[in-house]
Amino acid sequence: MSNALAFSTVRTEIGGRPVAELVERFGSPTYVYDLETVGRRIEELRAFDVIRYAQKANSNLAVLGYMRGRGVRVDAVSAGEIARALRVGFQPGHAPAEIVYTADIFDREALDLVVRHQLLANLGSPDMIDQLGSVAPGSPIILRVNPGFGHGHSQKTNTGGPQSKHGIWHEQVSECVARARKYQLNIVGLHMHIGSGTDLEHLGQVCGAMEDMAKTDGIDVHTISAGGGLPIAYRAEQETVDLGRYFELWSETRRRLEEHVGHAIELEIEPGRYLVAESGYLVSEIRAIKRMGDNLFYLVDAGFNNLARPILYGAYHPISICPRQPRDLGPEQDVIVGGPLCESGDIFTQEEGGFVAKRSLPKAKVGDWLILERAGAYGAVMASNYNSKPFAAEVVVREGAAHLARARQTAEDLMRGEVPFEELS
Ligand code: LLP
Repeated sequence: MSNALAFSTVRTEIGGRPVAELVERFGSPTYVYDLETVGRRIEELRAFDVIRYAQKANSNLAVLGYMRGRGVRVDAVSAGEIARALRVGFQPGHAPAEIVYTADIFDREALDLVVRHQLLANLGSPDMIDQLGSVAPGSPIILRVNPGFGHGHSQKTNTGGPQSKHGIWHEQVSECVARARKYQLNIVGLHMHIGSGTDLEHLGQVCGAMEDMAKTDGIDVHTISAGGGLPIAYRAEQETVDLGRYFELWSETRRRLEEHVGHAIELEIEPGRYLVAESGYLVSEIRAIKRMGDNLFYLVDAGFNNLARPILYGAYHPISICPRQPRDLGPEQDVIVGGPLCESGDIFTQEEGGFVAKRSLPKAKVGDWLILERAGAYGAVMASNYNSKPFAAEVVVREGAAHLARARQTAEDLMRGEVPFEELS
């Protein structure tokens, strides 16, 4: 049975709730996350010993809490993400490591939290070894290795190879083992993440690199992490990844390594996008429809301040229309979808390089809702307040009921902490 979600350019409900009701309750623009979809994606990855959610994809507390309730552990890349993980009840400590800090630097606040809560740290730069070792000698650590190659859906999401800032260069691992020894830091695991939105061929290459690295003298791995990067289909013609095959590749690698080290090794996976992308819908309202020469624009009240993936990567998101009142929408037409910002790049239908693209969508009227789909990963978390636009509300739908999971920002929220000229001290 396929778990794939259908693509459609008309949508009247999300997770069983009518779009009209959602907008009436929570306003527009609003992110809606259907937690049942998240739950299905978690179940698909159960073969791995540990599913460690890369919360950078969507760190809403309700989403994090839902993950925790299903036995998913969490990755944190900043002090803020550590605070979120602790806030929803993930336990501090490194055995078991419910929270792992993964980054290429320790800013001072993050180092302080890692030490204070005895979090397992996954170190992506040699300098981090000295910084942790000098304040917390004897700690267990993981090394994040850049295997010398990478791949992603965009050059900006490729995290391997010599042009990437991520990880410890594979040729320096032995040197780092010696460096760790100086502080009795115990290397308990290795981690590789070569990019986001990659494919099975590239993901598979990581297994070989991991096997080589794990045999380095002085390393005794108890855990290996395959990183994240699992792709999802943003277009109908895109195939979904063969998870069975992917698990087999890693499971075989783990088995061979277990033979080599002579004890059990835990196999982790660290997905972000895969768990949450398809659960998320950015609901907006069409506020203007206008023609520019041969082009027809639908202008909505959400912009790249809410969803930056199109302007950043030329990312494609499926789009659907929900008519305000039920009516026959007739044949589709080619349109360009843009937002409210004073910036010409504020276009949701664009390709990499900023070229505007047309999308075939139902004939809409001002007041209809336009839904940017598969926006649950790297959507709300990458929002900004550009043009003094507030962050959208976030809503979760669970067992047929919708709940506010983050209130829309107010004008007060936008100005919090700022000091007017007359009050400068
Ligand atoms: N682990 C590490 C160390 C990572 O750097 C990332 C993503 C992940 C796991 C999760 O990757 P995923 O499973 O989500 O592909 N903003 C971009 C994606 C940036 C990903 C950054 N790191 C986008 O919107 O496509």
